[in-house]
Amino acid sequence: MCGIVGFIGREQVCPILLDGLARLEYRGYDSAGVAVYSEEDGTLQVRKAKGRLQVLADMLEGGALLHGTVGIGHTRWATHGAPSDVNSHPQVSRSGRIAVVHNGIIENYAELKSFLIDMGVPFVSETDTEVIAQLVDYFYEGDILEAVTRCLHRIEGAYALGIICADAPDELIAVRKDSPLILGYGEGCNFLASDVTAIIRHTRKVSYMEDGELAILTRDGIRCYNHLMQPVEKEIFTVDWEIDAAEKGGYEHFMFKEIMEQPDALRRTISPRIRDNEVWLEDFALDEDYIRGIDRIFIVACGSSYHVGMVGKYNLERLLRVPVEVSLASEFRYMDPILTPHTLVIVISQSGETLDTMAALREARRLGAKILSIVNVVGSSIARESDVVLYTWAGPEIAVATTKAYSTQMAVLNLLGLYFARVRGTVEEARYHAILEEMQKLPARLEEVLASRDSVQYLASRYFNHDSIFFIGRNLDYALGMEGSLKLKEISYIHSEAYASGELKHGTISLIEEGTLVIALGTYGKLFDKAMSNVVEVKSRGADVLALTSKSHEAAMAKTADAVLTIPDTCDMLLPSLGIAYLQLFAYYVALMRGCDIDKPRNLAKSVTVE
Ligand code: G6P
Repeated sequence: MCGIVGFIGREQVCPILLDGLARLEYRGYDSAGVAVYSEEDGTLQVRKAKGRLQVLADMLEGGALLHGTVGIGHTRWATHGAPSDVNSHPQVSRSGRIAVVHNGIIENYAELKSFLIDMGVPFVSETDTEVIAQLVDYFYEGDILEAVTRCLHRIEGAYALGIICADAPDELIAVRKDSPLILGYGEGCNFLASDVTAIIRHTRKVSYMEDGELAILTRDGIRCYNHLMQPVEKEIFTVDWEIDAAEKGGYEHFMFKEIMEQPDALRRTISPRIRDNEVWLEDFALDEDYIRGIDRIFIVACGSSYHVGMVGKYNLERLLRVPVEVSLASEFRYMDPILTPHTLVIVISQSGETLDTMAALREARRLGAKILSIVNVVGSSIARESDVVLYTWAGPEIAVATTKAYSTQMAVLNLLGLYFARVRGTVEEARYHAILEEMQKLPARLEEVLASRDSVQYLASRYFNHDSIFFIGRNLDYALGMEGSLKLKEISYIHSEAYASGELKHGTISLIEEGTLVIALGTYGKLFDKAMSNVVEVKSRGADVLALTSKSHEAAMAKTADAVLTIPDTCDMLLPSLGIAYLQLFAYYVALMRGCDIDKPRNLAKSVTVE
C-alpha cells in the first residue's frame, strides 16, 4: 500500500527519493510523485505520474532534473479518486508552498473539504490528502508546525504524513497515526519512510514512530513529540539484515527467490528454538500457570496469515485439546467476540502493520485477552502492542504474494503448540520428540521438494490456460488448498476455489465437467482413502486431476489421478509445510506462462494499511 520516503541532507534529494520509492514498489501502487524544495527560486517543485515509477523516473531523467536537498516522495495505491496524475501525491496546497504525502484514509475529509470550499479554497484532486495540504495552508500564519498541529486536531482517520513547506526549507515534518512510519538517522542527513527497505542503503539506524507522534527532521537531528507536543526520546534500533536480502540477486522475480529461500528461512526460525531436544522460546512472557489455564484460543489474521491459522487450528486442537477458533481480522473486530482472561488471542502478520489485524488486536486487548503475535517485521506496530511476540525471522519479504513468511509463520505456530502441549502435559513424550526431530529435518525435506521444481513447471505448461481451477482436500489438506488457491488467484488471475472435499457434493460438483482442472490434495494419511473417493468422484465427471500426495500414498494416487506431485513422508502436522512449496511453484509457473506481473499483481498491496 502507499509508500512514503522523505529526505533532508546535503546531497541531491531526487535520486534518493526515486531509489527509495523503487524499493517500496513491492507494497503495491498505481502512481508516484515527488516534491523537492528548490534552493534556486525558493519554490516547491512537484512532479507526479500515473503508472509505474519508471514513468516518473524517466520524466525526471533519473532525478537529474530537480535540484534540492530536501524532499518527499510517494507511491500511491488509490483509495479516494482514481489513479491519475492529479490524484497522485504529493498533494500541494493552493499557495503552492505546502506539500504533503499521505498513507491512510482521512475519514472526515468530505466535511473538511466542504468547509474549505465554503472558505473559497479551490480543490484540484479527488483525494482525501488534498484536504490535509489545504487545511494546513488555511491555518498557516508563518509557523508551519503550528499549522500542522492545528490540522491534526481536526482530521480523523489513519495517516502517516510527510510534509514540507517552502518557507521552512530546513525542516521535514513526519506524523504518524495508525499507519506505519519510521525515522532513519544518517550522518548530516535524516530520513522518513514507510519501511526500512526504502532507506537501508543509506542508514541502518532507525526508530519506529508511535501513534500520535510528530517528528521534525533537520539535517542535524530528529526531534520527536507525542500528541501533547511533549518531547519524546526515541529508542534507536540497528537493522541487522543485509541489503542483498531485499534485492533479487540474479533471480527473475522476488517471489521465486523467496520460494527458494524457504529452507534457509525455516532453519533460522526453527534451529535456535530447539535446545537440548526441547522447544525454547525467546523472551517468553507467558507463565506456565497462565498456559495451563488457557481455555480457548482465537487465531486472528488476514490473507495468507489467516490460512496459517487454519492449519494451526487442526494442529493446536490435536496437540492441546483446547478449542481454537480462526477468525478473519476484518470480521473479528466487529463481531463482539466472547473473550475471557483465559482466552489467548494469537495474531499472525508478516508486516505487523495490517490495519484490520491491528484493530482486531486492540479490540481483543480491550476485552481483556492476552495477545501473542507471530510477526516478521521486527519493531512493527503489531509486535509492539502485543504481550508476547514470536518473530518468524524470515528476512525481508518483497513479493506481494507471501511465501517464506507463510512457511515460517506455520513453523512458529507449530513450535508454540508443542511448547504449550509440553507445559499442559497433553502430548506424550515420545510423540513430542518425534515431532521435534521431524521439524529439524523439515528444511532439508523442503529442499528436496524444491529440487523437483521442473516437474511443476512442466505441469504448469500443461494447465496454464484453464479459466477456473478447484483445490479439494480434507482437514489439513483443505487448509493447504486455501493457500494454494489464493496464491494462484493473486498472481495468475485464474479463478480458483478451495473446497473441503466432502462438501463438493453439496453443490460445487455441478461445476465439474469434461476437462475441469481439479487439484486434489491427499497428503494427510488418516483421510487418504476419503481423499481418493473424492478424486474418483470428480474423475468420473470428466475432471483432469493433478494430485498432491505423500511418498507412501504415491502409488495408490497414481492409479487414478492424471498427474501426481509427491512430498516426502513426515509427521502429519508438518505435511502442509512441504505441500505448500509445490502449490507456490505451480502458481508461480502458471503466472509466468501467462505473462503476469508476478511480483506486483494488479490491485494488490503487500501491506494493507487501510480498512
Ligand atoms: C496482503 C498481502 C497478503 C497477506 C495479507 C496479510 O493482502 O498481499 O500476502 O497475507 O495482506 O498481511 P500480513 O502482513 O498481516 O500478514
